[in-house]
Amino acid sequence: MRYDSITEAIGNTPLVRIDQDVHGLRNIDLYAKLEMLNPFGSLKDRPAWNMVRDRLAGAAARGETVVELSSGNTAKALALIAGMHGLPFKSVTNRMRVPEIKDLLLLLGARIEELPGQSECLDPTDTADPLTLFHQQLSAPGSTHLHTDQYFNPLNAQAHAEGTGPEIIADLDGRAPDWFIACVGTAGSSTGIARSLRAHDPAVRVVGLVGAKSDFIPGIRTADEVQEVGLFDPAVYDAIEAVTSDEALDGMLVLLRRCGMLSGPTGGAAYHGAVRHLRALDAELTERRTAVFVVCDRTEGYLGYVRQRRPELLGRPPVRNSADTVTDAELAAARSVEVPEARAWVESGRPLVVDLRGPFAYGALHIDGSVNIVDELFAELVRGGLPFSTSRPVLLACPIGEQSLRYAALLTRMGHPDVRSLAGGIVAWRDAGAPLVRD
Ligand SMILES: Cc1ncc(COP(=O)(O)O)c(C=O)c1O
Repeated sequence: MRYDSITEAIGNTPLVRIDQDVHGLRNIDLYAKLEMLNPFGSLKDRPAWNMVRDRLAGAAARGETVVELSSGNTAKALALIAGMHGLPFKSVTNRMRVPEIKDLLLLLGARIEELPGQSECLDPTDTADPLTLFHQQLSAPGSTHLHTDQYFNPLNAQAHAEGTGPEIIADLDGRAPDWFIACVGTAGSSTGIARSLRAHDPAVRVVGLVGAKSDFIPGIRTADEVQEVGLFDPAVYDAIEAVTSDEALDGMLVLLRRCGMLSGPTGGAAYHGAVRHLRALDAELTERRTAVFVVCDRTEGYLGYVRQRRPELLGRPPVRNSADTVTDAELAAARSVEVPEARAWVESGRPLVVDLRGPFAYGALHIDGSVNIVDELFAELVRGGLPFSTSRPVLLACPIGEQSLRYAALLTRMGHPDVRSLAGGIVAWRDAGAPLVRD
């Protein structure tokens, strides 16, 4: 294999069968499409190149900057491609949550702009999400931004419809698989691959996997978040199923330890989701069937993510005090207070009010007298033990009241006698017209 440019090495990734002894399905051959073997390390190499290739001529002379709203693999691929073509790259995101990726992007020469999203709830007189506003500026006439627009750009899905899908069919000797299972981020890969497989055989069943509610698997969206994605069309999927971060890591461990596949968490989520979905169908089958799932990227960038969630896998003591370990029963028993009651409580001056949002959103508007401890920092604090005296009650606030309820459950378990979550979060407080101040 000899190439003139690294971009020529994008695509033609292997399709590798998972040993039956590993997955345990009796009548289904399960294959992994190893997208992590693309040259920049992920399934995003294809859309990144497809979205930008025809816009590179003359871009440097026009002083253009490649820009994408991405905190992960798309940004990585675009940063590398931009560098090859003498262009700056800027990644705009509402929170870089995987530190290794941020470091890698900086190493590649990317500029990173972190903006708060609507869910962080800024000034109520500002009707537009800062990210949306930024999005509009990028597309304005005369802009020197070469904006690839992965959440809306049809070239994202097209890269997979014309590349990944046909490769799967060719490697299955001209047949489409009976099932195709993939995680959903921008929805580009699942939509594009599904389109090409169904053009070959309309009977292909497609399972889309999303993160479980208020859980975080880097690269994919939760069931609620996915509704906001421009390329997402529910009609593409025969089923949409949720995977927890724990299940994603379990799946990743199987791929790592038993299959020789250096997969990241979403590859693990896809493996886990595939086997779980297919197990129920396998017993009914009377003839052999085929299923394909996608391994999106590699393990190395997620060691910090693993360390946080499963430190015991890295030889460290297990995390005792983590919001991820809160059980459904603990969550149901956690105390939350509706806005009117919370307001009276705050006015009494008794509770310590802790706001878990980002500092930007907190600075714009917050409950007077509250302290700001951003959620990542709060997670670190509680890991070491109760961060507050038990003699003062605590009111926890986050954007919509989900995260704060988890922490209320956790702190209760840790022995705090009176910790409550603001029901509906700062959004409900704001919508009720309760007072907020700005710094
Ligand atoms: C690691 C990882 N897995 C899965 C996906 C989902 O792919 P898509 O955006 O095509 O839905 C992404 C997208 O960024 C990703 O980075």
